[in-house]
Amino acid sequence: MREIMVKTPSMTSTIYIGEDVIAKRLPVLASGQTNFVVTDENVYALYGEWLRAKFPKTEFFILPSGEEHKNFSSLQTILEKMTQAGLRRTARLFAVGGGVVGDIGGLAASLYMRGISYVQIPTTLLAQVDSSVGGKTAVDLNGVKNVVGAFYQPCEVWIDPTFLKTLPEREIKCGVGEIVKYAALNAEILRLIEENTERICDLGFLTTLVEECVRHKAKVVEIDEKETGERKSLNVGHTTGHAIELTSGLSHGESVLYGMLFETRMAVRAGVCDRAHGERVIQLVEKALALAPCSKPDFSKIETDAEKARSDKKNTENGEIMMAVAQDLGAWTLFSMPLESYKSALAQAVKDGR
Ligand SMILES: NC(=O)c1ccc[n+]([C@@H]2O[C@H](COP(=O)([O-])OP(=O)(O)OC[C@H]3O[C@@H](n4cnc5c(N)ncnc54)[C@H](O)[C@@H]3O)[C@@H](O)[C@H]2O)c1
Ligand SMILES: [Zn+2]
Repeated sequence: MREIMVKTPSMTSTIYIGEDVIAKRLPVLASGQTNFVVTDENVYALYGEWLRAKFPKTEFFILPSGEEHKNFSSLQTILEKMTQAGLRRTARLFAVGGGVVGDIGGLAASLYMRGISYVQIPTTLLAQVDSSVGGKTAVDLNGVKNVVGAFYQPCEVWIDPTFLKTLPEREIKCGVGEIVKYAALNAEILRLIEENTERICDLGFLTTLVEECVRHKAKVVEIDEKETGERKSLNVGHTTGHAIELTSGLSHGESVLYGMLFETRMAVRAGVCDRAHGERVIQLVEKALALAPCSKPDFSKIETDAEKARSDKKNTENGEIMMAVAQDLGAWTLFSMPLESYKSALAQAVKDGR
């Protein structure tokens, strides 16, 4: 079991990675106290019996699976369940699932009695490399992603790679979407993937990648917990990715891959991103998109879809659309343009691939 600390002004979280993490940490954190488990239907169908044995005499909340349930009404139901269970301030919440469960479970923990302790147990690749680390919690509201939320750090994150064995190929691809984002920013991760492309779905290799990505994210969160500077770098591909996610029905990870593809092409064309670096990133994105082929979304109306980028307030400044761009290895910048220019640059970026 490996250990990575994330020290922020609000608290120190410890991330544990390894197949033995649950066996080792559960007796320390869960025994002899009141716990509450939040999970989703798919995870419960696969691991429910095992979880019930690990968390005896514990109230479970099982969320229907899918992003559409990461909303206010589910949050309210979770909080009602916690109240009905009579949880006190000393209780601990365990969020066992993908990014949806982690985001909503973390937010519920932050709100219940003004904040109780919680543990993230990420079960998707995306949640293991990204969403379980760093304390961003949220729900979507009226079609705006993550608009209601809090920065609230988990006390611990338990990353057990064996959960990935039951993950469908398409979900692996979603996680690879976030991994490619790290690769665009981190020379070591880029080298690792480029040298092992054929092993990208291999559990042992994924475990190495998860650890490298978590180390990268932990460093960034330590520097800038509340995303006022350095943490914005982790939004590479996300301005356009979120707009695509809202309009195409694709998952978060797939949308981020398309977001990175189009934003990198835009940045290269504008001379903001080094051409050779941009090409390396684009090649990785294309390989990742081919991992679990799905029908290519219709980007013919991308100019209208682009309006959605405006709904993401953290990606707009002075009315301009702002993107985080990996310029070269170890160098990133914020790149912004007025909405109308963004729309045409995006339409051009879609055409550039034909
Ligand atoms: N908080 C953050 O910093 C952050 C960062 C990135 C993404 N996110 C959020 O994360 C969410 C996406 O996360 P996700 O891709 O994990 O989606 P998800 O939670 O919807 O999980 C994807 C699917 O995999 C299933 N699943 C989970 N674990 C499984 C397992 N071990 N075996 C088989 N199936 C399993 C789920 O039931 C679901 O159907 C989005 O809401 C996004 O906004 C948050
Ligand atoms: Zn993301």
